[in-house]
Amino acid sequence: MNPLPPKEEGEGSPFEPEKKTVEVEEGTTILEAAMNNNIIMRHDCGGNAQCTTCRVIIRNGKENLSPMEEKERTALQGKAYLNYRLSCQTKVYGDVTVYVATSSLLD
Ligand code: FES
Repeated sequence: MNPLPPKEEGEGSPFEPEKKTVEVEEGTTILEAAMNNNIIMRHDCGGNAQCTTCRVIIRNGKENLSPMEEKERTALQGKAYLNYRLSCQTKVYGDVTVYVATSSLLD
């Protein structure tokens, strides 16, 4: 899993210019993978697919993720087509590149 620094205009990142690669067991959520590797992400609802503060953008490897369930699709309110996923709901089963926006990180 490769959390990348943001590339959107107006976004900064504590990762920039580094990229961080982490190894995780299959079935680990993106949020768990991040938190277990000192990438401290917001997760205001406690991982219940209600707040969307944990959202990320999948840059590569979306075929290696768990399918999106209805509660995640509902929470994202139509942003799923932009490759957004809720990190608390999305499990990893292979190589994935993840963009973590500054707004989803805690200091
Ligand atoms: S932690 Fe709230 S939606 Fe993921």
